[in-house]
Amino acid sequence: MKSHLIAPSVLAADFTRLADDIDMVNRSEADWFHLDVMDGRFVPNITFGFLVIEAIAKLAKKPLDVHLMIEQPEKYIESFRKAGADVITVHYEACPHLHRTLHQIKETGAKAGIALNPHTPVSVLEDVLEITDLVCIMSVNPGFGGQKFIYQSLLKTRKLREMIDSINAPTMIEIDGGVGLQNAESLLQAGADVLVAGSSVFGAADPVATIAALKSFNAVFDYQNPA
Ligand code: DX5
Ligand code: ZN
Repeated sequence: MKSHLIAPSVLAADFTRLADDIDMVNRSEADWFHLDVMDGRFVPNITFGFLVIEAIAKLAKKPLDVHLMIEQPEKYIESFRKAGADVITVHYEACPHLHRTLHQIKETGAKAGIALNPHTPVSVLEDVLEITDLVCIMSVNPGFGGQKFIYQSLLKTRKLREMIDSINAPTMIEIDGGVGLQNAESLLQAGADVLVAGSSVFGAADPVATIAALKSFNAVFDYQNPA
């Protein structure tokens, strides 16, 4: 059995008291901070950039998982790395030269991730899976927190798990959007490694306990060594 990671999405934090929310994640059983960068072009929303990530990096005691929902992400990879990103995820739909962009990310020393919009099938990743550290399956249309989980994402997760295991790649599967206590276990059973959770964590009465609950599901099925 391998254990899964929990990555609270800071998008759902209270930005008037961001330091407190970062401290909460530091104290919790969460593994990563998930940071959503949006440019108002690739997605219909604008969030934050280098300055805010640098500030978070100063307080965060856990790796920063930076999800770039921006056009031409290749222009900014080095700057996001300098700002403190440990994992840099670009969108398949925003990268005509994805192979080059993945190498560019790895050359900075960061882990390289690819995110897929809900309409993009996992099969498009066949020729890059081996050089991809993480695939982020978007289980909502990117742009906003608090949306409803798209069920098809569960089936995509299973398919991707099979693709990854068939070539014995160490690629992690991350699920982003509408994830919470109600679907975490099914996602882990389908083969997810990292669960991003925004509103289900920061909107909870007890965020630390919610993270602990998400972390406690031990339904990760090891496809290579089934019990
Ligand atoms: C959506 C973002 C998500 C978002 C998830 O575009 O990529 O990371 O913060 O938020 P919840 O968990 O509220 O769906
Ligand atoms: Zn995200």
